[in-house]
Parts: sequence; structure tokens; C-alpha cells
Amino acid sequence: MPTTRNLLYKMNMNTCCSVTLADGQTTNVLLADDIYDLSAHLSEYGNNVLWVLDGNTARLIRPLPTPRVILEPGESAKNWRGTERILRAAVEEGMARDGRFIGFGGGVICDMTAFAASLYMRGCRLTLVPTTLLAMVDASLGGKTAIDFMGGKNLVGTFYPAQDVLICCDTLKSLSDKEFLNGLAEVIKHALLAQDEELYRMLLLKKHQIMGRDPAVLRNLVELSLKVKQSYIERDPKETLGIRQALNLGHTFGHALESCGRFTTWSHGAAVAWGTCRALEAGEKLGITDQRYASGATKLFAMYGYDIDYRIGRGDWQLFRQSLLKDKKKQDGLVRFVLLEKQGKPVLTTIELKLLQNLVISSPI
Ligand SMILES: NC(=O)c1ccc[n+]([C@@H]2O[C@H](COP(=O)([O-])OP(=O)(O)OC[C@H]3O[C@@H](n4cnc5c(N)ncnc54)[C@H](O)[C@@H]3O)[C@@H](O)[C@H]2O)c1
Repeated sequence: MPTTRNLLYKMNMNTCCSVTLADGQTTNVLLADDIYDLSAHLSEYGNNVLWVLDGNTARLIRPLPTPRVILEPGESAKNWRGTERILRAAVEEGMARDGRFIGFGGGVICDMTAFAASLYMRGCRLTLVPTTLLAMVDASLGGKTAIDFMGGKNLVGTFYPAQDVLICCDTLKSLSDKEFLNGLAEVIKHALLAQDEELYRMLLLKKHQIMGRDPAVLRNLVELSLKVKQSYIERDPKETLGIRQALNLGHTFGHALESCGRFTTWSHGAAVAWGTCRALEAGEKLGITDQRYASGATKLFAMYGYDIDYRIGRGDWQLFRQSLLKDKKKQDGLVRFVLLEKQGKPVLTTIELKLLQNLVISSPI
């Protein structure tokens, strides 16, 4: 029987979207009004669950739910060992296929919990509760699961969409500014890929509320951002048609920059912001991107404090180039960059090395 609290929850918590992915699998995304809404919904799952958290997100719930696995925070835990810990705990709890894994954390916890859920008894139930902005607008939706393997990021993984994604923007209050900006770069990227300008305008007009983490504004921001991701992944659920690839806007440049900094100097979001600006610039030089649009979008990133004018030194070029050549999303041996014609109009294209050098090196030869 549902409790009064649960009934209350049902009235408050709004379904943000229902996303249909490969093989007709559906993910229901729910936006909670506040932490009470969220916990009421979580309590509805009953006892047949296994919680996966990290050392930081475990501090966000009191009392700590059981049974649970608490992993080390951060990317270094995204490996087989962590996956095995989750699977072992499920076996020890005697969970059957109708058991549910609940991943409560950032993108690392979401990716790992989903990966483990896809393996356990060939697939058990899965709920993700993303607690970073990046995980809310990106990692929790779309069915991609992964762990890092032999030095390769996300090298081993599966497609396994969560049945439910529960989002509560109140959890963002404890997130560091650095992690917040990490996710915000993906939100701005979504704003450029959107078919309309609502998210773009919101970012232009509500910087103060966004940076002040106003829950109502963040809720709206997350919802609009998710709808953009939804529109790309539903048309190309397994990334085979070149549509979903548009979501990599800024990532090929960004990843190469991260590798030049040995993945310590640049945060992912800062590198994506920089990379998106390089993609806009490349588009201008190739006559693909509308100049006024490129200039406005670049200013939007600058407005949120991203270092978009940075250029690598000549000495870093080989490392940068090698990283580009290793790009996982190459086709027929060619790296394809996502550029933008204008708002919501991505194009995939190759770029000649000479132009690449001019775009990214501080004083090319
Ligand atoms: N599956 C996908 O489609 C997809 C998409 C994008 C990114 N990803 C993956 O997501 C990962 C990055 O995610 P991330 O940026 O969320 O990193 P993360 O999960 O490592 O979280 C960043 C840090 O914030 C902490 N944290 C999380 N929530 C918090 C909160 N509410 N308050 C305080 N601290 C909190 C974490 O403990 C961690 O230290 C990468 O592994 C990336 O590959 C996956």
C-alpha cells in the first residue's frame, strides 16, 4: 500500500520525459521538487535493491541505505574491481533478476552501476540518481555504460538504459564550483545543438540564478538540456547513424587538449568548452558556420568564465595530434569533427591538418 508520503510524492514529482531507446526500451526521467520528493520515491522501490554510492555521495543520504556498496570517489574507481564489488554484493544479498541496482552519484557511479546491472543475471532492474550536473544532463540518459580498461577511457561497456532516472537539483548544492562548471559546459553545448533557442536564452539571461544554484532555475535548465539530448539519442539510439554523434560537439578537440594536460590540467567541461569554440572557429574558416552565430556562442562560453582563448604550445602538437588519431569515433580511419552551421544544425566533417594547427597552436610555423 502506498503511504500518504508516497501519494504526496506522486502529486509533486513530475515526469520530465520518457525516452525510448534501442529495442523499444524506455527510460522515465523524473524531476523531484526537493529531497523529500526524491526520498519518498526511492522508498517505493522496497527492499529488493542494492545501492551504489561513492564516498562523497554517501554523505548526502542519512540514514545510509542498505544494502550498499560505497566506492572510492572519482574516475580511478571506474574499473573491473569496482564492478566486481557491486556484483559480489548482489550475489551476497541473494538478489534475483527482479532486484534493482540504484546508482546514486555522478557520472562514474551512473556508468558503473549501469554496467554492473547490465551484467548481473544478464540484466537486472536499474535506477539512476545523478548527483552532479554532468550526470543529470548527460551520463544518466542514453544507455551507454562503461568502465575504463587498460588505460582506455570507457573502453569496455554495454548499452543498457536505466528504467528510471530520478533527478533532484537540491543535491547540487554540495557540488564544488569546478564540478558544477564541468556539467555546465555540456548544458551550453546542448543549448547550441537545440532546435530552438529557449535554453540558449536562459543561459544568457539567468547567469546569476544559475551560478547561484537557484533550484527552480536549475530544474528548468536540466529539463531543457535533457530534452536536447533526448532529441538526438531517440533518432539514433546506438550511435550508428551519425545523428547522436552530434553530441560530441567540442569533444574531439577537448579530449586532445585534456590529453596534452595528461588529464590533470584541464577538467573535462573546461576542455569541452574550449573544444566547442575551436569547432565554431573551424566552421567559420571553412565557410560552414555563420559568423555572427559563432561569435555569439563563443561569448556565451566566455561569459561563464571558460578559458576559450587558450592555445597549445608547438611542443604539444604531436601529443595533440596523436590523441586525435586515436579518437574512438573515427570512421574509415578518418577523424570526423562535429561543426555547426548555425543553431541546432550540426555537420560532421574532416579537417585538414594545416587548419587544425592554425586553430590550436599559439604560433604555428
Ligand atoms: N554514459 C554516458 O553517456 C556518459 C556521458 C558523459 C559522461 N560520462 C562519464 O561520466 C563520468 C564523469 O562524471 P562526473 O563529472 O559526474 O564525475 P564523478 O562521478 O567522478 O563526480 C565528480 C565528483 O563529484 C562528487 N560528487 C558527486 N555528486 C556530488 C554532490 N552532489 N555533492 C558533492 N560531491 C559530489 C563525486 O564523488 C566526485 O568526486 C566520466 O567517467 C564519463 O566517462 C558518461
